Parts: sequence; structure tokens; C-alpha cells
Amino acid sequence: MNSDLLVVSAAQLLTAPAGDRPLLGPDLDRPVLIEDAAVACVGGRVAAVGRTRDVVARYPESESARVLDARGLLVAPGFVDSHTHLPFAGTREMEFEARARGESYAAIAERGGGIRASVRHLRAASEESLAAAVVKRLARLLAQGTTTVEAKSGYGLSLEEERKQLSALKRAAASSPVEIIPTLLGAHEVPDEHRARREGYVALLIESMIPAIAREHLARFCDVFCDQGVFTVEESRRILLRARECGLRLKLHADELADVGAAGLAAELHAVSADHLLHASPQGLRAMAEAGVIAVLLPGTAFTLGLPYARARVMVEMGLPVALATDFNPGSTMSSSMAMAMTLAVTQMKLTPAEAWMAATANGACAVGEGGRLGRIQPGFDADLVLFQATDHRHIAYHYAQEHVRSVVKRGVPVWDGGESLGCA
Ligand code: NIG
Ligand code: FE
Repeated sequence: MNSDLLVVSAAQLLTAPAGDRPLLGPDLDRPVLIEDAAVACVGGRVAAVGRTRDVVARYPESESARVLDARGLLVAPGFVDSHTHLPFAGTREMEFEARARGESYAAIAERGGGIRASVRHLRAASEESLAAAVVKRLARLLAQGTTTVEAKSGYGLSLEEERKQLSALKRAAASSPVEIIPTLLGAHEVPDEHRARREGYVALLIESMIPAIAREHLARFCDVFCDQGVFTVEESRRILLRARECGLRLKLHADELADVGAAGLAAELHAVSADHLLHASPQGLRAMAEAGVIAVLLPGTAFTLGLPYARARVMVEMGLPVALATDFNPGSTMSSSMAMAMTLAVTQMKLTPAEAWMAATANGACAVGEGGRLGRIQPGFDADLVLFQATDHRHIAYHYAQEHVRSVVKRGVPVWDGGESLGCA
């Protein structure tokens, strides 16, 4: 049979077992590993995956429009980064230094820095310049092996400015192979003009921002920063119920700075995911497990801010599905490297390398509501593949702060090629 692209002779191929559900408990540590592997792609989808000799028996090299020789390389699904704040303007090195001098993230936010500093930068930027910045970031993401990225607004904090951020994402998406899943995070912080009467901002979210953004199809998810000093559980519930009414799916920034009961709220609302969870209570986590809410873990944030890491082992053992993402943003995590997130997951949260891979691919796809299309190298799924300069999947998290990506395929099309690199080890 004909194929559009045939990837052959990979030293190792890693993927999740066939399915469309998040992996939990012991299954998280049971990836499919195939030696001397091949993938055939037809019409942007995976048509076959397996041992090279078996795949080429059905899809011969001579009948493929293009062949990629993956000898000596690792093939894995493209990373699905299920939590970022990608469309930001300006950077915050001053806060990075202030934290080194002992000031906390919360104290910096209190004095008008933090998210509110990024809001000032964002409001001063044009949609065009924002889109151009996002395009550059997407190019870097692709070179880091990320083929799908969730991207939140949340630095505009008015209908017009949140719309500007989400429109910039849409514009950038049109000129990059990386797929963007947009999220409205209007409830990221209370903007300066509403701080004297915060109820006015909650009303604005509920009455105008959420319905307008949903109507304009600028976001697929709605997220709320439900935490100490930000939005309360009661406010978050009202905002998220309204979002659901308007057809948006739900996510929460939950219990990052303190245990405010946000994990329990995520369970109550059957949110798709609750993210961060550094301080989530065992009851909150258990409720999430029962409700099937995915825990999106962001170890880069704990690393950057010097906070305790989320208790990933406890979560896995209680049967909570965990995904791994970067939280890329100019305040708490200035890195879009999923490989680095995997290193931190293994060294600091004690996931095994295989668990980190599953959390960064199959479970990441489920955390953006695309578990039936992305995150696995599986017949019928989008052919999003990364070829790494390594022969063993464990090498990527282990050999950290290095770029191992050799080439990237999005929907069956080679979209990035790093050329011959120095090789590993
Ligand atoms: O996920 N926690 C809230 N929001 C971001 C930080 C945003 C910022 O500092 O600009 C986060 O860590
Ligand atoms: Fe975040």
C-alpha cells in the first residue's frame, strides 16, 4: 500500500498502549517499547506502527512518497504541553533576581509585580507584535519536540485585552505547524482598575467576557487561578459554571500557593484537569481521582520558585491520572522544555522515565481533551512524531539541559530538521 511518509529502522519507538483514556496507576509505567521500529503515515494519520519488517511488508519503502531513516534514533509521540501561558509580552528578570534575594512570589505580586506586571506589558503591546512573539516561541517549542500546546490568556484582564491575546494566538497558529489549544484565563488575577471592588470584575467575567469569548470561538477551555490571594472557591465556582454554560470545558490552577480546596472544586465540577496542586489536600486529590479529573503537574514552577514539588507518587498510587506540562510563563517558569519537565519529574517527583513520558504525551493529550487523536503513535491518530538523537527513551530526561531532537513530524509531514548533531553521551 502507498504511504505519504515512512519512518523506518528506529533504534527504539516509545508510545502508550492503544487506547484513548489517560493511563493510571501501574499502567503509567507500562509503555510500549519497540526495537527496530517503523511508522507508516497516510493522510496525516498513523496507518501502521510496529517492527520495521512488519510495517514495510504492508507499506513498502518503494511505495512511500517519503522515507525517513531513523537508524540510531528514538521515535516518540510529539510532546503535548497541556499548560502554558504562551501569549505574553515582556519578561520579568527583576523578579527573578528579587526572589534570589529572598522575596517570595506572593510578596512580589502583592506589591504590584507578578501577573499584574505582565498585564501592563501586555496591554502596551499590539496584537501583531504579540502574534510575532508567539510565532517565535512556537518555533522553539517545535525544535524542543512539542507538537501541541495549550496556551492561556490571562494577562489582558479585560474583554478587549483577553480577546487580543487569544486573537494573537489564532493568528500565530496559522503560520506554525504546532497545534494550539486556546484557554481563556480571564480569572488569572483581579486587574488594578477593579481592585477596590473585586466583585465588579467577577461580574464582568460572568456577564460579558466568558460569553463573548465563547461565542467568538476564541477559546476551548476556561481556567481560573483558584488560590490564596487570587480567586476564592466560591468565585471560581460561579465563573466556571458560567463557562460551562457557554460551552467551554474547564480547567483550574488549583492549590498552588495554599490549600484552599480548589482540588475539591475541580472534582465537584468534573473539570478536565486541575493543575499545579502543590498544596492540594489528600481528600481533594481523592475526590479528583473519583471524578476522573487529570492532575497536570508542573515541576518547572516548583523548581523556579523553590517550592515543594507536587506529590506525584502519592497521586499515581491513588489512581489519579497525571500529566506533565511546562507552565511556560514569564513569572514562575521561563522554560518551554518538556524534556526539562521530564527531568524534574524523575529527579524531584520520582516518576520513572517511562511514567514521565506517558504523562508528557498520552496523558497530556487527555488533559487538553484530545486523548482520542493525539499523544500516542497509534493507527488513526494524528501522525505527530519526534525523532530524538538517542537509542533509549530514558536518555532524554537523564541527559538534561541538552537538545536531543533530531526531527519533528506533524500530521505526517516533516516540519523541522535539526540536521546531524553532536550526538549523545
Ligand atoms: O501558573 N499560577 C498562576 N499563574 C502562573 C504564573 C503567572 C505569572 O507569574 O505570570 C503559573 O505559575
Ligand atoms: Fe499556570
